[in-house]
Amino acid sequence: MDAATIAINQRMNKFDGHAQVWLFGYGSLIYKADFPYIARRPASITGWTRRFWQGSHDHRGTPMAPGRVATIVPQAGAICDGMAYLITPEVFAHLDHREKNGYLRLSTVISFDDGSSTEGLVYIANEENAAFLGAASELDIARQIARAAGPSGPNSEYLLHLAHALRELGKTDPHVFAIERHLAQLSHPGTAG
Ligand code: SIN
Repeated sequence: MDAATIAINQRMNKFDGHAQVWLFGYGSLIYKADFPYIARRPASITGWTRRFWQGSHDHRGTPMAPGRVATIVPQAGAICDGMAYLITPEVFAHLDHREKNGYLRLSTVISFDDGSSTEGLVYIANEENAAFLGAASELDIARQIARAAGPSGPNSEYLLHLAHALRELGKTDPHVFAIERHLAQLSHPGTAG
């Protein structure tokens, strides 16, 4: 499946011939930019909401005990806040490898905080990929995250870094912050919610 995702992404030719492309990140791409970029700007996309519905066998879990990481799912009127990076097309080889566990490139309109917008790309893991786990209560998601770890580290670290990065951007995300609260309670059961 990983190889298939990489091959599908390589065939995505919408931005062929462009010297630079904007990439929108909503998960680990907000806080971990392990690739060269020309510019970086807080941004959002409309009609999508962030959900910890994607399984991670390769970064934050294992095939036997997958973790849960962020994807975005369509929701009318929703706004998903994140970070946009202006990159050159050569960077996609690295990104396709990093996002290989089910994420496909999709073109989208990216809005910047000054009201301007541009067309760019986002990596999305939809329900058709084999690693997709789907909806669960935020408490159950927190329980799964609390147990999981993979080559990139504990699954909880992903969630906590993302919550911290969203706060630094001055953004709220009820789904992410609810999972964060459950995680805190699971690790310190005596404390209030
Ligand atoms: C993203 O951050 O935009 C994609 C999901 C991830 O790599 O965590």
